[in-house]
Amino acid sequence: MHSTAATVPIELQSFCSGCSEVLPTLCDDAGRIEYVMKEMRGVLLNKSLFVELMNGIVQGTGYPDARRPTMFDNELLLYSDASGVFSLRLYLWGPGEYTYPHDHNSWGVLGTVTDGFEVINYRREDDGKREGYALLTEMERFTLRPGETTFTLPLDAGIHTTGNPGKVTAITLNLYGKSNQRGYLQNFDIKENRVQRVYPPRQKKIMLAANAMDHLKGASG
Ligand SMILES: [Fe+2]
Repeated sequence: MHSTAATVPIELQSFCSGCSEVLPTLCDDAGRIEYVMKEMRGVLLNKSLFVELMNGIVQGTGYPDARRPTMFDNELLLYSDASGVFSLRLYLWGPGEYTYPHDHNSWGVLGTVTDGFEVINYRREDDGKREGYALLTEMERFTLRPGETTFTLPLDAGIHTTGNPGKVTAITLNLYGKSNQRGYLQNFDIKENRVQRVYPPRQKKIMLAANAMDHLKGASG
């Protein structure tokens, strides 16, 4: 994404410029998470900024770009650091909407604009060696007030479910650090003890098309 200063609201631009400048100078992810948690609070409490962003989506101004497909259908990319140091993403949650339990490819800070965003953190109990199998235990669950943040970590260290237990649409903001090269996320089914890979929409289409092409060629040959 090419986020120019002309399209990103000034308050977001200055938050993101600060992150681009400071995050690479910090020596570990704990320090990076601490910095983002501190800096994100003011952004989350800036109601007029989020009115502007919601208006951009409703009016189709092009920012935020709702047409761009991402991993989750309630997700919009707000900013992508040019060096891949971080990305900033907006999430919209209808009443009662939650993610599956899932993992991540980077550390991340999650903050909420609206009241009562729920986070459930899990611990993975198995060693991951059995294909398609995963055993999760719930570790904690809590809700966040406006302006509050929490964090997640890469792979098995950051498996969680997040969502909106309330009766009105919720708005949250996540900042993710530099991604590893795995190329997919994992969704977990805690009732059936199953785990499944989830690929980005474009990648999934390419994989399916390649697979279908092989079969078509095989069938005609
Ligand atoms: Fe997540």
